[in-house]
Amino acid sequence: MARIVQARGGVHALDEAHWRAMTEEPATNAPPQDRLGRRLHDLRISVTDRCNFRCTYCMPREVYGRDYAFLPRAEILTFEEIARLARIFVGLGVRKLRLTGGEPLVRRDLPDLVAELARIDGVEDIALTTNAALLRAQAPALRQAGLRRVTVSLDSLDDAVFGVMNGVNFPVSRVLDGIAVAQEQGLRPVKVNMVVKRGVNESSVLPMAVYAREHGLTLRLIEFMDVGQTNGWRLEDVVPAADLVQTIAREFPLEPIPPAYPGEVASRWRYVDGGGEVGIIASVSQPFCGACTRARLSAKGELFTCLFAASGVDLRALLRGGATDEELEAAIAGRWRERGDRYSELRSAETRGLRRVEMFAIGG
Ligand code: GTP
Ligand code: 5AD
Ligand code: SF4
Ligand code: SF4
Repeated sequence: MARIVQARGGVHALDEAHWRAMTEEPATNAPPQDRLGRRLHDLRISVTDRCNFRCTYCMPREVYGRDYAFLPRAEILTFEEIARLARIFVGLGVRKLRLTGGEPLVRRDLPDLVAELARIDGVEDIALTTNAALLRAQAPALRQAGLRRVTVSLDSLDDAVFGVMNGVNFPVSRVLDGIAVAQEQGLRPVKVNMVVKRGVNESSVLPMAVYAREHGLTLRLIEFMDVGQTNGWRLEDVVPAADLVQTIAREFPLEPIPPAYPGEVASRWRYVDGGGEVGIIASVSQPFCGACTRARLSAKGELFTCLFAASGVDLRALLRGGATDEELEAAIAGRWRERGDRYSELRSAETRGLRRVEMFAIGG
């Protein structure tokens, strides 16, 4: 028998067996562990699939042009739905929430969502990943609502290089202004994510390091990843972590320091002269799946257990189909217990051809 559900997002049909498989779970209070013994600690919430940039490594403008069909509003989770799910995830062990997109600040009234999330008992950290274009206007309200900190994406201090990489000629000065406002508002520490592509912005690494040192920012250098299927990724375009560290260490000696928390994505390096630290995110050359405790909720309410997954569990269908909190919890815990993802560790010629969700759809 089909369970037909009419909801704002359209009509959903789930047969009884499918519904039961998604919602039945042996009763237990222990936080779920996946097949590799990993717990659920971080939830990354994508609040929109839209973005005002067209970064070449994420949403190349040739593919995501005027005609591209982004999700209509009714397909996107409401703030109430997101907060309800977040509360359930926290019950299953999540302690850290990160809002992502697309670009999260293009979603109207985002501070209202932050306020809802900040009210959930057990949440220890709420962060936001943004391109900073809209940060000057929104930083005060976000701070007031309970946001702790922001991570800003910036790939170069050179307008010509950055303009090409962000795909819309967005000026560096406006991102730096957004960073400064975030710092003034106490959204600290501000981290800066820089994706490095060989032959495109390698020469920007050192100037970015100098700027970050001088302004109390934590720079994080990210290896260009093969997320999604549209960014034309090639292994030759990846500058390996070891080279990135050397580029900085030649000028400013560095020493490794331990992770700030178990499963931290970035490996940390400290300037020997006390000038702060740099993070290196080496998903290609030194994968970190072994300690991956991250779940991702897409803008339309799918639960993804890996950045490189092809599909997720449709939590929206459950939400809009009248599922109870217990049924939602069982669906999430059940999926987590089945999880065996470790894409970056398996990356190979065989994984290359697999279908993968786009990064802007589930957040970085
Ligand atoms: P902190 O909480 O400050 O430690 O940040 P974070 O590392 O959790 O989040 P952030 O959004 O700053 O992550 C930086 C980048 O690392 C992302 O934009 C991705 O490019 C990459 N990244 C994050 N999580 C994963 C992951 O689970 N797998 C892979 N392969 N890359 C990831
Ligand atoms: N490789 C590495 N990082 C990426 N991001 C987006 N696409 C890629 C990619 N192909 C990350 C960037 C950006 C965040 C939103 O997502 O770090 O800061
Ligand atoms: Fe937008 Fe961020 Fe993707 Fe760039 S990386 S296109 S800013 S979502
Ligand atoms: Fe986690 Fe998948 Fe990234 Fe590995 S590739 S760290 S399993 S999200």
